[in-house]
This record gives sequence, C-alpha cells and structure tokens, in this order.
Amino acid sequence: MKTSISQVRYHLFIIVLVGLLVMAVVFSISCGEEEQSTPSTPAPSVPVTEEWVADGTISVGEYSNSQIHGNYEIHWKSDEEYIYAGMKARTGGYVSVGFQPGSRMKNADMVFGFIADGEVTIYDMYSTGDFGPHPPDTDLGGTFDIAEFGGKEEGSFTIIEFKRELATGDQYDNPLLSGVNKIIWSYGSSDSLTRQHSNRGYGEIEL
Ligand code: HEM
Repeated sequence: MKTSISQVRYHLFIIVLVGLLVMAVVFSISCGEEEQSTPSTPAPSVPVTEEWVADGTISVGEYSNSQIHGNYEIHWKSDEEYIYAGMKARTGGYVSVGFQPGSRMKNADMVFGFIADGEVTIYDMYSTGDFGPHPPDTDLGGTFDIAEFGGKEEGSFTIIEFKRELATGDQYDNPLLSGVNKIIWSYGSSDSLTRQHSNRGYGEIEL
C-alpha cells in the first residue's frame, strides 16, 4: 500500500500534537506539586538590622565580627567609646567572656551572664587567680560597668548581649584597645558563679 505525502504530514501533525499535549499535562502537574509544597506560613527568619539592641536576638547585620568556638560564639562591634557584644552558647546555664587575661583565667576582666526564671543576670567580674576566684568588681572595690545588657534562652541556647565602655577607668576592667585583644571564653550548665564550665577556651577579638 502506498502512503501519500499528505498522509505522512497528517501523521507527523498528530504526533507533534500528542507530544505537546503530554508536555502540557506534565508541566501543569509539576506546577501543582510546587504549589502544594509551599508552606502556608513562612519559616521564621533571623531579623536583619544594623541597630544594636540588647534583646537576646543576634540579628543579621547587628555585629560586624563573629567568632565560633564549637558550641560557643561571640559577636562584636565597637565605636569610639563602646564595645557591643553578643555571646551565645548551647547551654541553659551561663555564658561568659574574659578580656585581656594574663595566664589562664588570671587577671581576666570577665562578663558573665545567665537567665533564671526569664530574668537576665549579668556580672562584671575579675579573676584574681589562674583558676579563679573571680568575684564581682564591686566586691574588690571596683565598679559595675556594664552600660546595657539583655538576653534570652532560646531552645537549647543562652544568648547574652551587652555594651561596655572600651576603657571604663575601673582598675578591674582591662581597657579594650584598637587592634587585637586576647579573650578567654566559657559556658557552664548551671546558673552559678562558682560551678566550673562545661567548656572553655582562648580567642582574640580585633577592634
Ligand atoms: C564559674 C566558675 C569557674 C570555675 C570554678 C573555673 C575553674 C577552672 C578550673 C578548675 C580550670 C582548670 C581545669 C580546666 O582547664 O578546665 C579552669 C580553666 C580555665 N578556665 Fe575557668 N573556671 C570558672 C570560670 C571561668 C570563666 C568565667 C572563664 C572565661 C570567661 C574561664 C576560663 C577558663 C580557661 C580559658 C581555662 C583554661 C586554662 C588552661 O589553659 O589550662 N573560667 N577553670
């Protein structure tokens, strides 16, 4: 049986038409799936702001520097007068930083904070020995110099934010200098000033 050119054209036309129909159906199904997988409520996102607020949220852009030591992180920025810092650790206990230590903990100017029953407590302390003690500056005859602070517990994390003058004039606060400043850090599982840390270490922050 002979096939005419017009019959071939007709068959080609049908094949192309069916192909287009199949593509249209596949496209509409995949679009439908995408729509279904879009969550009805958007996932919570980290706020973006350059403004420093001691609210226990470390927002994107709030700090210009950060350093991560395992489950502990510190974020900071400074201006002519102040350092603004945010400490965050995977703990329900305390988070702490010590500025310009001598050997080990000795002579470190510490900021130590925790949240208990929703209330933020912060200490301006000074370690007098290699392994403490580190009483509040006020017990040593110094002054409390945390200008502003706040924090919160979020899931398994504790976050403490604070602002302090770079040089307070208190002999139990080590001045923070332009350039590299040594730090020690720690966090513990309790809200106690005397219970040893679960983890601790050394770092450097640049201002
Ligand atoms: C809360 C009460 C604290 C106690 C009872 C305590 C006790 C101790 C002890 C016994 C050690 C030697 C054992 C070890 O290396 O883990 C140590 C080391 C250390 N602590 Fe503390 N500490 C306290 C708070 C802090 C704080 C608040 C910081 C930092 C801000 C800190 C930073 C360090 C560092 C960096 C070391 C390591 C020293 C080394 O290299 O050997 N500690 N601490």
